[in-house]
Amino acid sequence: MKRITLTSLLCFVLISFAYCLGSSDNQNSESSSIQLSNLAEDPDTHVLVAYFAYAENIGDTSGMSVDAIASASIGRTSNREGNIPVMADVLREELGADVFSISVEDPYEPAYDDMHDRAIEEIRDEALPELATLPEDIEEYDVVFIGTPVWGGTLPRPVASFLSSASFSGKTIIPFGINLGSGFGNIVRAIRDICPDSDVMDGFTINARTANDEVREEFAEWLSDRGLV
Ligand SMILES: Cc1cc2nc3c(=O)[nH]c(=O)nc-3n(C[C@H](O)[C@H](O)[C@H](O)COP(=O)(O)O)c2cc1C
Repeated sequence: MKRITLTSLLCFVLISFAYCLGSSDNQNSESSSIQLSNLAEDPDTHVLVAYFAYAENIGDTSGMSVDAIASASIGRTSNREGNIPVMADVLREELGADVFSISVEDPYEPAYDDMHDRAIEEIRDEALPELATLPEDIEEYDVVFIGTPVWGGTLPRPVASFLSSASFSGKTIIPFGINLGSGFGNIVRAIRDICPDSDVMDGFTINARTANDEVREEFAEWLSDRGLV
């Protein structure tokens, strides 16, 4: 009896351990299949940063009260800048990367409830909202950093539009982003589904309420720890 209990306990521990190893989407770790050297010092590796920031995708706020506009950005703190553009800046400074802001043709409503409803509906419908522009020469990049918040536990659909707009086959994709508690949620898996022939790293995500300076520091450290800068 005692032996059966011990065997069951051992099985439980092993299964739990295997599960933890397999469910790394929410962690800031790296994929074992990818070996990238210092990107800043490699002239043959071209790096693109494409990020989606809600604050850069809202429509006309002139007719709205200040409260309504403020509530549209639920992650805002005393930060002067959104944390996704801050991380894009780190990549521009450290790697000399080209930076592209993903923007929808039809902007989101500034009022939080309205934009939230549309965002969730787009996710439910697996919509591909039209984008205002695209970079001309995506084919030329070897490494693409994708900056994104987590919406409804997964990838905001404008980012899905971007990833569906060209072939990312053979490229390395490195997600980075912000969240308010879900980590990346399903984002890494969603990117792998859209880009099955890319190497998609597990990436880096941080709480949206973190101060800009701390985000800058932690992201630079994460890049450095992986030998990317
Ligand atoms: C439509 C919508 C859905 C969201 N869903 C989630 C979620 O599932 N999990 C989470 O941690 N944060 C969620 N958030 C928070 C965002 O990930 C992000 O951290 C927040 O919008 C702050 O970004 P901002 O300062 O650019 O507004 C959601 C935000 C929006 C607008």
